[in-house]
Amino acid sequence: MNAIAQELNTVIQDSNPHVYEMLSDMGKALFFPKGILSQSAEAKEKAGRINATIGIAKEGNSVLSLSSVTQYIQGITPDEYLPYAPSFGIPALREKWKQDLYKKNPSLEGRSITLPVVTSGITHGVSILSDMWVNKGDVIVLPDMMWGNYNMTFCVRNGARIVHFKAYDEGLTRFNLDSFESVMREQAEKNDKIITILNFPHNPSGYTLSREEADRVAAILMDIAKGGTNVVAACDDAYFGLFFEEETSKESLFAKIAGREKRLLAVKLDGATKEDYVWGFRTGFVTYGICAEKNVEEAGLALEKKTAGCIRGNISNCSHLSQSILLKSMADPRYDSLKAEKFELLKARAMKMKEVLKDPKYREGFEVYPFNSGYFMCIRIKGVDAEKLRIHLLDQYGVGLISMGDENIRVAFSCLEEKDVSTLFDTILTGIKDLRS
Ligand SMILES: Cc1ncc(COP(=O)(O)O)c(C=O)c1O
Repeated sequence: MNAIAQELNTVIQDSNPHVYEMLSDMGKALFFPKGILSQSAEAKEKAGRINATIGIAKEGNSVLSLSSVTQYIQGITPDEYLPYAPSFGIPALREKWKQDLYKKNPSLEGRSITLPVVTSGITHGVSILSDMWVNKGDVIVLPDMMWGNYNMTFCVRNGARIVHFKAYDEGLTRFNLDSFESVMREQAEKNDKIITILNFPHNPSGYTLSREEADRVAAILMDIAKGGTNVVAACDDAYFGLFFEEETSKESLFAKIAGREKRLLAVKLDGATKEDYVWGFRTGFVTYGICAEKNVEEAGLALEKKTAGCIRGNISNCSHLSQSILLKSMADPRYDSLKAEKFELLKARAMKMKEVLKDPKYREGFEVYPFNSGYFMCIRIKGVDAEKLRIHLLDQYGVGLISMGDENIRVAFSCLEEKDVSTLFDTILTGIKDLRS
């Protein structure tokens, strides 16, 4: 194994051996190289006369550029977006995102978390999680309704074994925490390490746990860790902040579990993608919360370096332009109010859905999964195949929806105008009746 990787492993082992045990083989082997990048960083600091280190081109004191490119980007100098960003991400953006994590999750106060490492969107964060913590055959506990891409990342890429719990009880009254608990405990009995992804607001159902439910999930995870099983618990907070109802927990589960138990590693995967409505920017973050009696900061830094090494060996670094714009947007005095405005727009759409769906006529055709957050909601179709219905609605009525399994249809209210809500559900009902007759 590379000597730098070994050094990082020793730091982690000294601080918390369980975190070291949880790393995948790749995670153990990862390191951030001291080669060209660190020599360039040193030169940037000290080589005032001639700096002939890094693989970009310069003209005078600035980056060399084509005006056919730069003409489209105003208000930022080419030096702020054309050169490579560091593999860790722009330091000021990492600091700002971290500060905001404390602001958005007040109960994190007083607890140490790592400096977020910038990823190319949350998908990339999920993939890094998988590379660093999942070995072939490892068990990952996920709901039976989930973002389909987890399958690609964890199973196809890294050979994980998904064990599902039932996301909802039969009556669709609430998220099925009994099933979550029993599957987690059953897997903890059988395995030294288990991984789970906590995705709230949930894709596809649009559900976020209530405060009590969130406390219960945190308690289950901590209890399993206390009982001697290593638990990697990753919070996929892609839709963080879009919480539309009073009783909904407004903080990430990460805030409840970070730094709480030695055998519980908390990982936060989040990003600007949906929080700041910049889907194509590809700017996400990975943050760790470790519990240890000593050297927590050092162990955290070692994990940051392994994460940056994982990025270096894959995409090298993320879009500099996106990071620079995001950083400026976050520093804009209007940032909070602009976000609040869009939040209200999405909330109004979700509320309109709820109002329209109160009409008992729809019960004849489908049931509604509980939803209170995010971008989506789901319905369970009665007596008609969901995929057949999707195709029928598309072909006959020009209505596009997502079918999931035999029974479920996902509706993205995030892109639906309030005025179209009744028409949409009326058309779905008509489509169901067409297929039945
Ligand atoms: C649950 C969940 N996680 C992650 C992502 C991916 O986000 P990004 O576009 O930042 O890669 C999505 C987006 O569809 C998602 O629904």
